[in-house]
Amino acid sequence: MYAAPPRATPGVTTSKAMVVSAHPEASRIGVEILRRGGNAYDAAVAVQFALAVALPAAGNIGGGGFLLYRAADGQEGALDFRETAPAAATRDMYLDQQGQVITDLSTLGHLAAGVPGTVAGMEALHKKRGKLPWATLVQPAVDLAAKGLALTQKEATGLTSNQAGFRKYNGSAPLAYLRPAGARPWQQGDVIRYPDLARTLERIRDQGRAGFYEGPTADFIVAEMQRGRGIITKQDLQAYQPKWRTPLHGQYRGYDVLTFPPPSSGGVALLQLLQMLEPCDLRAAGWHSPAAVHLITEAQRRVYADRATFLGDPDFGRVPTARLLDKGYTRQRMATTRPHRATASKDMAAGTGLPGYESDQTTHYSIVDAQGNAVSCTTTLNGGYGSKVVVAGAGFLLNNEMDDFSAKPGVPNSYGLVGGVANAIAPGKRMLSSMTPAILLQNNQLKMVVGTPGGSTIITSVLQAILHVVDYDMPMQQAVAAPRLHHQWLPDQIDVEENALLPMTIDSLRQRGYILKPRSAWGRIDAIRVLPDGRLESGADPRGDDSAQGY
Ligand code: GLY
Repeated sequence: MYAAPPRATPGVTTSKAMVVSAHPEASRIGVEILRRGGNAYDAAVAVQFALAVALPAAGNIGGGGFLLYRAADGQEGALDFRETAPAAATRDMYLDQQGQVITDLSTLGHLAAGVPGTVAGMEALHKKRGKLPWATLVQPAVDLAAKGLALTQKEATGLTSNQAGFRKYNGSAPLAYLRPAGARPWQQGDVIRYPDLARTLERIRDQGRAGFYEGPTADFIVAEMQRGRGIITKQDLQAYQPKWRTPLHGQYRGYDVLTFPPPSSGGVALLQLLQMLEPCDLRAAGWHSPAAVHLITEAQRRVYADRATFLGDPDFGRVPTARLLDKGYTRQRMATTRPHRATASKDMAAGTGLPGYESDQTTHYSIVDAQGNAVSCTTTLNGGYGSKVVVAGAGFLLNNEMDDFSAKPGVPNSYGLVGGVANAIAPGKRMLSSMTPAILLQNNQLKMVVGTPGGSTIITSVLQAILHVVDYDMPMQQAVAAPRLHHQWLPDQIDVEENALLPMTIDSLRQRGYILKPRSAWGRIDAIRVLPDGRLESGADPRGDDSAQGY
């Protein structure tokens, strides 16, 4: 009865190479680069810049991200191009004189922006792993911005619902995203051209990171900051450095799981969850059965409590990654689970607040090239359209990533996540993230590339994609499309997508003490699975405009 979710339209299968991203134009450009002899890293650079044009809600040059790779020869790397707090940032910068969090200050407008990392990150990737010339990889995005492209229905809706924000946080400079006062709303098929963004991308094409962090683009950013009382300076821009980190490894039912270390909380949390669930026979319990949901939820509750307490930027304090991933520790955490009864989050660890959710706009792309190199990259402005601030003259949106810091211990951010000292604001520090790019291997062979946007839900969505394939034998597309559940310790509730649970399962979970909250669809998982015969099978999330292409 609980054996499987509704059937999904089959994914795409290709024999050699594949790009899955949140926009058909970005996937097309990535595949074009691969066909021209580029490798997966070249394609990643081209896709990243293409998304900055085609997907303004989340694609970016004004944000940051995490890129994980596993090369065909077994080499691996984790590139952290997360934003940093500007030098003038202070721990209490979002608090009023009474010590209360000032509404919207960390989410909207100039003060919400961290120092962007994307352009420096892409250059670092290209220098280390790229094959084709840098200009060849940036040019398709220049062309896209100059010629413009048609809005999808979802993009038209997203831009339309953000018109007030664009008006409020921007000056009188022309703004490609804005409809003139009194005009009809954006509609599917409307073509937007981005001349300022095209010129910024040209500078990046010609000068690499200097085309963004110095010269006219830096001038535009600092002028924009001064107009809106933001604090990012030329020194902040020049000082920004991406970092190469060591990927985390874990095991799950014979798979080696490669994922991202702190300042992502996602990698640690994903591996903790898999360790906690490995002793449980989820397959026998059945997909989304009361027993399986009970176990998965109790694991999630414990892991998100740990996240809030222990995780932050490892360059600013000790993050006890090894301890959190110690098998004895995760076993002991699960030992407090009661059969047939929910644990109350308030009895497990400190923390208050029952927030609402806001947007969860980040984006992910998965790439495998013909040589077998794999890239899993999640990149973000944080909220949809970030801070809503478009840098005048430069034509790109700035992130609102400062909200991923803990503005005040115990007070939830826009994802309802609480944090403490480990994730307090400090100059130059990276804010904690949930982004969870992951790559699965079996006997040293590539098996899956996966990741998603979704703020705090990223970790549980990636977990479910893996469980769906490994425990429930779903094809990749079905694993991605299947309705999802989410629990994050606080608020103490299971978020439930439409059709995720049978009515009798809902009754059974309520009897166990769970609070269930129906919630509209979240996440956009983009994944690639390597089939036993070596072909690639896509999972492009039907919740968005996501697209798998390849050859
Ligand atoms: N801004 C979402 C995240 O990094 O988790």
